[in-house]
Amino acid sequence: MTKQYPTVSAEYQKTVEKARRKLRGLIAEKHCAPLMLRIAWHSAGTFDQKTKTGGPFGTMKHAAELSHEANNGLDIAVRLLEPIKEQFPTLSYADFYQLAGVVAVEITGGPEVPFHPGREDKPQPPPEGRLPDAKKGSDHLRVVFGQQMGLSDQDIVALSGGHTLGRCHKERSGFEGPWTANPLIFDNSYFKELLSGEKEGLLQLPTDKALLADPVFRPLVDKYAADEDAFFADYAEAHLKLSELGFAEA
Ligand code: HEM
Repeated sequence: MTKQYPTVSAEYQKTVEKARRKLRGLIAEKHCAPLMLRIAWHSAGTFDQKTKTGGPFGTMKHAAELSHEANNGLDIAVRLLEPIKEQFPTLSYADFYQLAGVVAVEITGGPEVPFHPGREDKPQPPPEGRLPDAKKGSDHLRVVFGQQMGLSDQDIVALSGGHTLGRCHKERSGFEGPWTANPLIFDNSYFKELLSGEKEGLLQLPTDKALLADPVFRPLVDKYAADEDAFFADYAEAHLKLSELGFAEA
């Protein structure tokens, strides 16, 4: 499908570049890349292809969406981002939150994910219940990512590698601990750890482990663990798709 991106003014494009630099500074100062990636993903991941509702359209700033159980802790991300957002009143929250996700991946050593501006803010947050449940398995992942968002099996595995960053917090999700030994570096260690089995101090969610048991997902886990370049290429493609769900569709 060819995307028809909206044309934005040269001034808006300049604003995006300035905001990108401010985001690099914020993330370097606060070590908040994981939270920035999570807010971008939880914003976009509510897209429902049938009703064309939800998606990366800036609604996460609303208390109603922040209060969804899956979004516990993302009020911190909104709060960290607000002083930068205030400097760029013309920038949409929709673009801003997705830009934060792209910068988080780039600044921690991950691939460059292309960014196309022009998303408009939607007035209405999506209903609760569209993000994946960490206690479930492959079928559930395919319902949420495949049927709801319209993403592929390859996208599911590549995007799961986003857990190379960050950790679970007992008070936010009920789970505790990081997936990798270096949760501020974006690399393919998520897949290596997944294959090496559970270890003291590191965590694997049921949805992470589901990737090992599934006949389509497993070969991709093996491939990404062995070949970081292949992971980065597929991750960048999947992240781009995620960040543009419902945006600029032909
Ligand atoms: C496959 C389905 C997924 C499930 C069930 C899931 C579940 C979770 C859970 C339970 C947490 C812990 C939250 C907390 O306690 O702070 C978490 C954190 C995180 N997730 Fe996911 N996730 C999924 C997919 C993704 C995707 C696609 C990305 C990005 C590409 C992502 C990026 C992150 C990051 C960066 C964190 C760490 C946040 C922090 O350190 O504060 N996740 N995820």
